[in-house]
Amino acid sequence: MSSIEQTLSIIKPDAVERNLSEEIKEIFKKNNFKIIKEKKIKIEKNEAEKFYQVHQSKPFYNDLCSYLSSGPIVVMVLERENAVSENRKIMGATDPKNAEEGTLRKKYGISIDKNSVHGSDSSENAKIEINFFFKD
Ligand code: CMP
Repeated sequence: MSSIEQTLSIIKPDAVERNLSEEIKEIFKKNNFKIIKEKKIKIEKNEAEKFYQVHQSKPFYNDLCSYLSSGPIVVMVLERENAVSENRKIMGATDPKNAEEGTLRKKYGISIDKNSVHGSDSSENAKIEINFFFKD
C-alpha cells in the first residue's frame, strides 16, 4: 500500500562542510520529494543526546552526539509517497562501505560516522523526529 507520508532528513556536518547541501536537496527533489520545511542550524551536544536517545546504550553514542553537534546541519521535512522507505533507499546502507552504487551514502559518505545523511527509520519515529526539530 502506498500513502503520502513525511520523514525527517538531516544533512550531517561532513556534507554541509563540503557544501553538498544543495546537491543533496536536488537529488531528493529529483526523486519526487517535496521539501516541506527546512532549516540550517547548529545544535548543542545535549540536544544531539536527546535526538539520538534510542542509541544511548550503544558504544558509539558519545561520538555520535559529539559529531552531530560539531558543525552546522540542515534539517528537513521531506514528503512523498512512502517517504520513510523511499528516503532510506536513496540514502543507502548506514556504512558507506556497504551502500549501493548511486545512493547518497555511497556517493558522499566518508565513514560510518560521517555518513552525510540521516533519515527516520519508521513512520512512528519520523513523527517524533519531525516534532523534535519543528515544534509548531
Ligand atoms: P544515523 O542514520 O544518523 O543513525 C545513527 C548513527 O550512528 C548512524 O547514522 C551512524 O552514522 C552512526 N553509527 C556509528 N557507528 C555505528 C554502528 N556501529 N552502527 C550503526 N550506526 C552507527
